[in-house]
Amino acid sequence: MIGIDGARLDAMLARERAAWSAARPKAAALRERARRSQLHGTPQHWIHQFPPPVPLVIDRAVGARLYDTDGHEYADFGLAGTAALWGHNHPAVVSAVREQIDRGSVTLWSSEDHVVVTEELQRRFGLPFWQFAVSATDANRFALTLARAVTGRQKTVVFNHAYHGSVDESLTGSVGVEFNDIDALDRALASGDVAAVLAEPVMTNGGAVIHPRPGFHAALRDLTRRTGTLLILDETQTIPAGPGGCTRDLGLEPDIITMGKCIAGGVPAGVYGMSDAVAAAAMRYTEAGDGGLGSTMASGPLAVRAMRAVLSEVMTDATYAHMNRLATRYANDVTTVIAKYGLPWHVGRLGGRVSYAFMPQPPHSASQLYPRVGASVREALWLYLANRGIVLNGMSGAALMSPMTAEPDVDRHGSLFAEAISELV
Ligand SMILES: Cc1ncc(COP(=O)(O)O)c(C=O)c1O
Repeated sequence: MIGIDGARLDAMLARERAAWSAARPKAAALRERARRSQLHGTPQHWIHQFPPPVPLVIDRAVGARLYDTDGHEYADFGLAGTAALWGHNHPAVVSAVREQIDRGSVTLWSSEDHVVVTEELQRRFGLPFWQFAVSATDANRFALTLARAVTGRQKTVVFNHAYHGSVDESLTGSVGVEFNDIDALDRALASGDVAAVLAEPVMTNGGAVIHPRPGFHAALRDLTRRTGTLLILDETQTIPAGPGGCTRDLGLEPDIITMGKCIAGGVPAGVYGMSDAVAAAAMRYTEAGDGGLGSTMASGPLAVRAMRAVLSEVMTDATYAHMNRLATRYANDVTTVIAKYGLPWHVGRLGGRVSYAFMPQPPHSASQLYPRVGASVREALWLYLANRGIVLNGMSGAALMSPMTAEPDVDRHGSLFAEAISELV
């Protein structure tokens, strides 16, 4: 199976699960206590689905490291699924938050920071008008509401297996199309009744990086323009690509951009930007009332201060140079092991994001990744690494490099990964 010996895999899984649980008595006790007040004994149901039999109970998260309640230390390559991309306590964010918390965290009014932030977003991402949201989910919900209001159409198109947050409009009432399939997109948009295509510019889910085929983005833009469909690009997970996301990197021209997660360095926040034409329609729409847009908790000065710090001091060329250097190193380590054992796997990269998938060639659509190939291999590797102080993304096994990630931790991952594979093949 995908180059791995089944019996060895079973043995590793059993051993690593047992070792994990035995070393975490405090976490286990807390889990049992939590079962009486939380679903599955976890604050979010996702945590229950992650590999460790006893979920991680974090005492503190510092830099790109986690410290658990049983005294274990980890290099964190999961970084809260991009939400902690800049590290858990980036000094620029910490000082901005410390300063702002004494000056008010939510006011429902504006500040100079708000203007600086929207000007900077405009400069980086090319869209002229911006609004604030509480999270990426929230930004996508507002973007879809706006797209429906502006076009007078209800349907949306989302690529199969895409994830845009727990926003029900993107999950139901939408037409699914394979990423990179221009003919299917053409058919889906032909009737002229689709309000928007909501897409990641590069798909990042399912433990892989799915790059657009040459010409895909040009065709996507052309088809959406010709059919009066708005193009919403969700840059939430593609910020590791560069300081202006994939939009700037690939020269894209969306009507709307959405983002959240790391944009305020760990303070909950989202933003959405729009073109002149969408903004003009949106201003007419919002003259009549809130129309399903906005939240009292969006654009609070605490989040916006943190966003200003991220944009001006963290999302710099130097930060990306560090992330890219470490990601190259990490990817090379994995590629070397894959080549050494002739595994039918490949490594995917998008700037500071690295993941490996259990197929020889990069997929063109996320459907190629389902049903989840190699889920137990991913689980065994996650546990093997975590038992030895390396944490990957609990859902996908992806790794992110932050400006606070240290090179020796990348090298340690490389050695441990090689050890684990030598045991499994
Ligand atoms: C591409 C994308 N958009 C939006 C979201 C939603 O982010 P949040 O859960 O922080 O609202 C996610 C979450 O993983 C995502 O991957």
